[in-house]
Amino acid sequence: MITLPSFSTSRREIAGLEIGSLARQFGTPLYVYDLASIGRRIADLSEFDVIRYAQKACGNLAILDRMRRRGVVVDAVSAGEIRRAIAAGYSVDPEKHEIVYTADIFDREALDLVVEHSLPVNCGSPDMISQLGERRPGSEVTLRINPGFGHGHSQKTNTGGEQSKHGIWHTQIDECLRRADQFGITVTGLHMHIGSGTDLKHLSEVCDSMERVALEVGRTLKTISAGGGLPVPYRTEETYVDLPKYFELWNATRNRLSEKFGHPLTLEIEPGRYLSAESGYLIAEVRSIKQVGGNLFVLVDAGFNDLARPVMYGAYHPISVAGQTVDAADREEVDVVIGGPLCESGDIFTQREGGFVDTRRLPAPQVGDWIILENAGAYGFVMASNYNSKTRAAEVLIEDGQAKLIRKRETFDDLVRGEIIPD
Ligand code: LLP
Repeated sequence: MITLPSFSTSRREIAGLEIGSLARQFGTPLYVYDLASIGRRIADLSEFDVIRYAQKACGNLAILDRMRRRGVVVDAVSAGEIRRAIAAGYSVDPEKHEIVYTADIFDREALDLVVEHSLPVNCGSPDMISQLGERRPGSEVTLRINPGFGHGHSQKTNTGGEQSKHGIWHTQIDECLRRADQFGITVTGLHMHIGSGTDLKHLSEVCDSMERVALEVGRTLKTISAGGGLPVPYRTEETYVDLPKYFELWNATRNRLSEKFGHPLTLEIEPGRYLSAESGYLIAEVRSIKQVGGNLFVLVDAGFNDLARPVMYGAYHPISVAGQTVDAADREEVDVVIGGPLCESGDIFTQREGGFVDTRRLPAPQVGDWIILENAGAYGFVMASNYNSKTRAAEVLIEDGQAKLIRKRETFDDLVRGEIIPD
């Protein structure tokens, strides 16, 4: 059984390394990942035949390399992600299926790359079947199916049902099989991903849909994928999905299908958040504290250009304070609003969906302290931007007790690279 995390409002170290030392050595804002946490999460999923990491969650080359060394393969949703996987050492050997392109469209660059490397494709729209068929007739493909329902931690991360652009609608299987036939394409796998940050109730419902659609496609199938979506607790009252139970449901579905088809089927899972979220911390320095009417604002040097989840989804991240000189645990707790440096009112880490400012009870921060935004390893750095001409943060990996720089802080030159002032 996986133990639930206990969140604390004060913190002195990350994976045994002192926060002040990390901040002084690498500067702030700083993303720090604890590799041991990723290793534990990979181990939790070891019953699945294939763990396919959704690299969009945290795609730094070093993270991908370490995933690869632990036997985890990847999906890629863009030409850039295909190139990233190759750069991290993943094989393009079509037999190995280490990189699968999974998307709802081919842009021209992605289609060229997929054809060039004969990469496996998971088609999320019927048009992809024909577009691939024209360039690579006789291929094998998998289909991403929208089962007609979905669920996520936010409406914006729900990827099923009529309001979602994702996947092939579950009643269009026959039409897709005919389309595939025209190009000699064989459908060898099915995939369903109903949303990100969902729950066991919704995830379990996918098994029935998978079985129904799989029987419609028939004996050409060799793999089924449960997609991603596994939640992690961001608050004390939240829990993990019961993984043994979840595996059992999928395993039973797979076994029934294998029996009907008379051959074995591979069972894949495709998590992003579950593998990387808890490994990541965003360290920011407190630069100003001011009282605004009834609210005490603590302004730090990281903003939604570094971590966009609160402003995009009203997402809640655990937050802790590391005192610059004294242990923050000894301080009195106060209600504060944590904001960033951007010239925009929505640049607040403690907000609810809809942009309403919330307060957080934390040990009274002081200028020079560090605020740590926790569980920031999934959809953190990868969603960072250069808004307000802010350079993107550095990333550090803690491995075997050592802090290793895995991405340099951007410079002004990086910021304006490619910009042209015409004569
Ligand atoms: N597979 C597919 C096809 C996906 O679209 C996604 C996520 C995953 C797997 C991985 O889902 P996960 O296991 O991480 O839930 N930016 C949002 C999350 C967007 C998820 C997009 N697709 C957030 O910060 O919550």
